[in-house]
Amino acid sequence: MWAVLGLLFVTVWPTVAQVQLKGQIGQNVTFNCPHNEKKIKLFYLQKDQTLVNGFHAEKPLQTPTWENTEVVNFTTVHMYRLNISHQGTYRCIIQYNNKQLDDTQHIHLSVTANYSKPKVSVSCDKKHESGGCLVRCDSQGGFPRTKMMWNGPATWNTSHQIWKVLNSSEHQDKDTMLFTSSSTACFNCSYGKQEFLRCSVGDVESNMFSVCEPPPDPGNHDVILKVIGGICAICAIVVFIRLVVWVLLRKCRKGRRTGDPAGSVMPEEVLTLNDVKGGKEAS
Ligand SMILES: *[C@@H]1O[C@H](CO)[C@@H](O)[C@H](O)[C@H]1NC(C)=O
Ligand SMILES: *[C@@H]1O[C@H](CO)[C@@H](O)[C@H](O)[C@H]1NC(C)=O
Ligand SMILES: *[C@@H]1O[C@H](CO)[C@@H](O)[C@H](O)[C@H]1NC(C)=O
Ligand SMILES: *[C@@H]1O[C@H](CO)[C@@H](O)[C@H](O)[C@H]1NC(C)=O
Ligand SMILES: *[C@@H]1O[C@H](CO)[C@@H](O)[C@H](O)[C@H]1NC(C)=O
Ligand SMILES: *[C@@H]1O[C@H](CO)[C@@H](O)[C@H](O)[C@H]1NC(C)=O
Repeated sequence: MWAVLGLLFVTVWPTVAQVQLKGQIGQNVTFNCPHNEKKIKLFYLQKDQTLVNGFHAEKPLQTPTWENTEVVNFTTVHMYRLNISHQGTYRCIIQYNNKQLDDTQHIHLSVTANYSKPKVSVSCDKKHESGGCLVRCDSQGGFPRTKMMWNGPATWNTSHQIWKVLNSSEHQDKDTMLFTSSSTACFNCSYGKQEFLRCSVGDVESNMFSVCEPPPDPGNHDVILKVIGGICAICAIVVFIRLVVWVLLRKCRKGRRTGDPAGSVMPEEVLTLNDVKGGKEAS
């Protein structure tokens, strides 16, 4: 009773079951085409009008089959080394020995490829004041097309634009059909250092980076220079004073040793001499 109803349903209103199958580039997938217990006469897995692989109970298949596929257990197909061109809708066509034909099972295969971790390259104006930094993010070998996204602080500070995305592109390779996703953003360094920035394609994130690092602080630099300058000046003055004192002392000693009566004899000594002279005269 149920079988009859089911058959009626199928013949009168043939619903197509669409199964979703996901694969990754370079990996394998398995197409399971369900069949009932009856004896199978033929099985074709077709992509559009093209035979992929199959089975015939009585004779070998006439058309060539895809070399990256293998049929097991009558209606199961393993597909190896997936690439993007394998993506699409496949039909399971099964004919039983009683001539009943089943073309109601469709399998949609989608193939993805992981993007590489985005590479960040930063180029800045030498002087940051009023200048800026240009940042470029690149990621390769992905599928499907995915835009490069930027994760960072707010792009606007009240009425001023701190940074903006200049352009983005997704370039597809003709042969592999894989995408390179790129984007360029510019940062205005008038608003200081911007930290904790990342770019990402889908789930794949770049390393964290920062831009507009202040150039070696000129304020500190000046202070250090001034301190060093001050120390040098003090040293120079001390050395100079010592030199002067030393020269004077030397002159004094020389004068005393030669006993030059004309000039360099100290007034006290002159006085003493006079006293002595006077004393001798007195006694
Ligand atoms: C894909 O199939 C090949 C051939 O059977 C096998 O060597 C390989 O390990 C499979 N790869 C994965 C990821 O299962
Ligand atoms: C792709 O990325 C997913 C999620 O990160 C991971 O599970 C999978 O192994 C990756 N595939 C390949 C081929 O690297
Ligand atoms: C994006 O903009 C940058 C800076 O103006 C430029 O160097 C680069 O070529 C542009 N990229 C594209 C894909 O237009
Ligand atoms: C995908 O693999 C098939 C073989 O299975 C090959 O003929 C085809 O050139 C490949 N396509 C790409 C885009 O690599
Ligand atoms: C950066 O911001 C300052 C202050 O708002 C502005 O004067 C300057 O033109 C901006 N620079 C760029 C490259 O947009
Ligand atoms: C916005 O920029 C101005 C001028 O550079 C700065 O004084 C102010 O602190 C900034 N505000 C925020 C919220 O970053």
